[in-house]
Amino acid sequence: MVENNNLLLGICGSPRKQGTDYAVEYALNYASEKFGFETEFWTVRGKEIMYCTHCDYCIREKKGCINKDDIQNLYPLLEKAKFLLIGTPVFQGNLSGQLKTILDRCRGLIAKNPYVFKGKFGSALAVGGDRSGGQEIAIRSILDFYQQNLIISVSGGAFGANLGASLWSKDRGKDGVQNDETGLKTIRKVIKRLAEFKK
Ligand SMILES: Cc1cc2nc3c(=O)[nH]c(=O)nc-3n(C[C@H](O)[C@H](O)[C@H](O)COP(=O)(O)O)c2cc1C
Repeated sequence: MVENNNLLLGICGSPRKQGTDYAVEYALNYASEKFGFETEFWTVRGKEIMYCTHCDYCIREKKGCINKDDIQNLYPLLEKAKFLLIGTPVFQGNLSGQLKTILDRCRGLIAKNPYVFKGKFGSALAVGGDRSGGQEIAIRSILDFYQQNLIISVSGGAFGANLGASLWSKDRGKDGVQNDETGLKTIRKVIKRLAEFKK
């Protein structure tokens, strides 16, 4: 798989078409309009997603994951994109179960090629119903995935988006996020810094 140096893949970890979906799409639109990124969007919503069962097929065979579900369509996108933006709703103070499963299932890719993610750039976004509902912990979990897999993490920098993009939906889904101008600004800051790594 040839990596596309201009491709930003946005992943939405929400099972709904609400705040997180809107926020990730907002980020992708901003990235393409302002900085000329090519973009792809992938969401967990409506997808068949099986848990990793630690069967170790991926380790034994080095042919990817044995589970033939909808994540199979995500794998080539992950391989192709130079830039990743992973977004999650905050569930119980952390990332969604759906997104956690996606990250677990990346073991299939990594077992086949331990350097599959090396040199990619990744940012994180979280949407909580509360102002301080665990957005930073959810973001941190995504950043830990980047760290573990040789992905260079990029935040929006000091003064506003220190770890990544953080949004407050007030439990009003898309409407809440659309009205969270402070949160939307954190998205723009993150994308601006991500664009600094475009060739
Ligand atoms: C199972 C569950 C757990 C949640 N836990 C939290 C939480 O710990 N902190 C928080 O701020 N919001 C929490 N929420 C609220 C969601 O983060 C919030 O409604 C968010 O906007 C959902 O994302 P969406 O708009 O993309 O659906 C929870 C929602 C659900 C369904």
